[in-house]
Amino acid sequence: MTVDGKRLRIAMQKSGRLSQDSQALLTSCGLKINLREQRLIAHVENMEIDLLRVRDDDIPGLVMDGVCDLGIVGENVLEELSLQRQIDNEPYNYQVLTRLDFGGCRLSIAVPQEENYQSVKDLEGRTIATTYPRLLNRYLKQNGVNARVVTLKGSVEVAPRAGLASAICDLVSTGATLEANGLKEVEVIYRSKAVLIQRRDLAESNKLNMINKLMPRIAGVMQANE
Ligand code: PRP
Ligand code: ZN
Ligand code: MG
Repeated sequence: MTVDGKRLRIAMQKSGRLSQDSQALLTSCGLKINLREQRLIAHVENMEIDLLRVRDDDIPGLVMDGVCDLGIVGENVLEELSLQRQIDNEPYNYQVLTRLDFGGCRLSIAVPQEENYQSVKDLEGRTIATTYPRLLNRYLKQNGVNARVVTLKGSVEVAPRAGLASAICDLVSTGATLEANGLKEVEVIYRSKAVLIQRRDLAESNKLNMINKLMPRIAGVMQANE
């Protein structure tokens, strides 16, 4: 299985909160997908489309760098990489084709449940663990708070218990993870949903035609879900 340059490449999450819904959306749009669990690439049987199944954090970069034509990704991950590339003076071109009706979550700051938290000023001078350092730093700056941000790629919720930080900034959807780790949500800093993005420089007419065919189907699926 190789990637053919003529086929539309869509990046989607391989496993995680967005994968089931992303797959269901594409299936509802008429794509016949034959997913074998361990495969990076899945060829769509009835259309000139390949699905690249990757880590969610890799999706914005794949689209911004033109390696994939479309991507289904959470706005949180997209915004974090956009901020990073702005700071590093790197290109971060992409176009949002549509917001989707799944993947809703919030990026929030949480502290130990027993803490008597009053306001954002209570974060002054603390160490906060997160996977989203640039979104967090932007929020802290906007609120005039000086805090130390430590970046962890995973297991952020155990950082306070492990003594690595006294607060965290992580995604919350049901709240079960915070609850299970003795933490409470105190500030919402970003609200996110899944979005469909396209690379900016896409010019191949066969691919653009395919996207033009897909978009009304996606709109139709979302309307039916309402
Ligand atoms: C997020 C977050 C928590 C969990 C919160 O992880 O890091 O682990 O979801 O959800 P809850 O409020 O419903 O318990 P995500 O699924 O995005 O996976 P990742 O951290 O591996 O990207
Ligand atoms: Zn992730
Ligand atoms: Mg997680």
